[in-house]
Amino acid sequence: MATLFKNIKELIQVRNEPISFVSGKEMNRLPTIKDAYLIVENGLISDFGSMDNCPEIKADIIDATGKMMLPTWCDSHTHIVYAGNREGEFVDRINGLSYEDIAKRGGGILNSAKKLQETSEEALYEQSRMRLEEIMQLGTGAVEIKSGYGLTKDAELKMLRVIKRLKENYPLEIKATFLGAHAVPKAYENNKKGYLNMLIDEVIPKVAQENLADYIDIFCETGYFSVEDTELILEAGRAYGLVPKIHVNQFTAIGGVQAGVKFNALSVDHLEEMRDEDIKVLLNTGTMPVALPSCSYFLSIPYTPARKMIDAGLPLALATDYNPGSTPSGNMNFVISTACIKMKMTPEEAINAATINGAYAMGVEKEVGSITKGKYANLILTKPINSYGFMPYAFGANQIEKVFIKGKEMKYE
Ligand code: NIG
Ligand code: FE
Repeated sequence: MATLFKNIKELIQVRNEPISFVSGKEMNRLPTIKDAYLIVENGLISDFGSMDNCPEIKADIIDATGKMMLPTWCDSHTHIVYAGNREGEFVDRINGLSYEDIAKRGGGILNSAKKLQETSEEALYEQSRMRLEEIMQLGTGAVEIKSGYGLTKDAELKMLRVIKRLKENYPLEIKATFLGAHAVPKAYENNKKGYLNMLIDEVIPKVAQENLADYIDIFCETGYFSVEDTELILEAGRAYGLVPKIHVNQFTAIGGVQAGVKFNALSVDHLEEMRDEDIKVLLNTGTMPVALPSCSYFLSIPYTPARKMIDAGLPLALATDYNPGSTPSGNMNFVISTACIKMKMTPEEAINAATINGAYAMGVEKEVGSITKGKYANLILTKPINSYGFMPYAFGANQIEKVFIKGKEMKYE
């Protein structure tokens, strides 16, 4: 049976012709239909338009008077498969240590890796599925999930198998990224090359053989992995068809953006430190820049210079970076608010960045990210609100009444 949503106050992000992403000035245009209807059939958007033309059909009817409808958020950068939390380090940072100080004394990513290695696959799945259900309730209808807290062959494969199981058990789009080169593990202290070789010779072939990842990632950063290491890993991934989506320019700009563009990365993420040459090299490429404002908020580091990038003509996507160390939050609504408040993005730019551009940044723009006939009916229905600008404005509150994935309402305890 079809579902007909009637009297939608405003239907947002309507794209009659499918698009891949929006850049520059186009980011400030968010097409909508006021007083609209939308029909869902077999999990897909089959029709929509103005209430003046609403057809008489046999369907389950949902009256959306006073409410807005928009496509669900596409969170193209997360690490939601992890074990335990790091509240201890949170307090250490309040007391004056920096993120880098904590990593240097063996905390940070290595702390999470130790916990994950000691956690059974079943327990890891349980913790992860709770985070997934949490973010779906917050309006996320497509998510990319990375490995990178295993740092051994077994533990990395364990993480990727958990992602695969989430994919099998939940209706939203999930993409998996292999991030074995997230940090150099203790066992390879002072032998970074040895660790990279192990990843290249033993882990990447297995990941590819078992079809456990779509993308490949590396933490290209001073004190972690160099540009040279990055090119080595991206080259190895390329041989197995793994497309790059990489961590660059979080604390220092060392040429990671250039390496990403050179290897046709689907996205380059973080970008808190951007030089003019980093902006320039991204122009007119297929590589999507991705900003993670909740990470800047939590670590008190600079925000990605969105204004400068968009004004230069670039596209931009927004994602959460949900992880235990730098962003223990998967709330895309907070990301959008923070992008408007701290990065001076308009609500139109932020919504485009969190829907169609986010979809592109994880390779699902043909399936989701806009209100387009034939795309999945992954929909947010808001509470009664005056305008879509109220969503970023009323930061920290939840304006979402219902979330639908493939036309079905998602409800979790
Ligand atoms: O994207 N920067 C690298 N990786 C994560 C944080 C890792 C951690 O602290 O656990 C990030 O911010
Ligand atoms: Fe990250």
